[in-house]
Amino acid sequence: MEIQEKSQEDTQAAIVKKNVFSGIQPTGIPTLGNYLGAMRNWPLLQEEYHCIYSVVDLHSLTVRQEPAALRKQTLSLVALLLACGIDPEKSLLFIQSHVSAHAELAWLLNCYTQFGELARMTQFKDKSAKHPDNINAGLFCYPVLMAADILLYQTDLVPVGADQKQHMELARDVAGRFNGIYGEVFRIPEPYIPKEGARVMSLQEPAKKMSKSDENPNAYILLLDDADTILRKFRRAVTDSEAEVVYREGKDGINNLITIYSIVTGKTVPEVEHEFAGKGYGDFKSAVGEAVAEALRPVRETYADLLKNKDYLAEVYTKGAEKARAIAGRTYGKACKKLGLVLPPRP
Ligand code: TRP
Repeated sequence: MEIQEKSQEDTQAAIVKKNVFSGIQPTGIPTLGNYLGAMRNWPLLQEEYHCIYSVVDLHSLTVRQEPAALRKQTLSLVALLLACGIDPEKSLLFIQSHVSAHAELAWLLNCYTQFGELARMTQFKDKSAKHPDNINAGLFCYPVLMAADILLYQTDLVPVGADQKQHMELARDVAGRFNGIYGEVFRIPEPYIPKEGARVMSLQEPAKKMSKSDENPNAYILLLDDADTILRKFRRAVTDSEAEVVYREGKDGINNLITIYSIVTGKTVPEVEHEFAGKGYGDFKSAVGEAVAEALRPVRETYADLLKNKDYLAEVYTKGAEKARAIAGRTYGKACKKLGLVLPPRP
């Protein structure tokens, strides 16, 4: 795969594929919300763009991790991304810590990011409130490492949720500032909001977003939950005291279930309402559970097969890292040169 660098080729924008970068932390299994909102669209994205996906293990270190668990979750996430349809022939898939330019560029960018800018980040404020005994420098500089991830690949578009918009803004500011002093080194990335991105809510408190950090495991579906667990969680989903499967304001629980069912079956909302007219919530909840279990089955099965094949996984992330190093190294070298660092002799 060729990643396009900024050049006169940009004038032929119509035929040049844009670069998309996304980073996913290896902390826990993604939820149905992550899947329906984003991951499900990734195989489609890779047809239209040069997609670069990184398992950002260095970011996870900003919160204390159990080493054995981190190692396992990192490999498991590589397998899961492949199971979701990321094709290593079309997209670049690698583990962040395998490409040293990420940490190196982050250092350079740290020197062009102000203390005040980082102190304003709401995620930093939230996370430091959550872990008051471990407000480390890495947590503070987290958005700079994220900026380095993105900028190394001359990224055009970054698929992000609302919670990452502030970090994206910072990446753009830092890149613009650097370019302003030293000339065009980095392409300025834009957040990418998918055309249809579903917002999946908690099954227990449907006014809240579905989150894997919820204390109540019945509130979320994990991508790797087995069919029985999925069914059970949907049967326990909180609804309302009416008995009508219709999408209407005030019916958060039912609205959420209709949305989920509509996405996984491809039926429109009126079609779903029609299908369940006159039926009770019990039938509806079971139907949603079964449809979701069925939709996730191929992901679950492919994932299980891939995990058995450690050699294949190693081949994918080793090749991914090689290609990523070549691209990232070019941007990093350019930044070093502009700054006046003496470049080491080529090996
Ligand atoms: N901060 C992102 C999150 O928690 C993860 C991330 C790290 C990322 N580097 C990135 C996302 C680069 C997009 C681009 O979701």
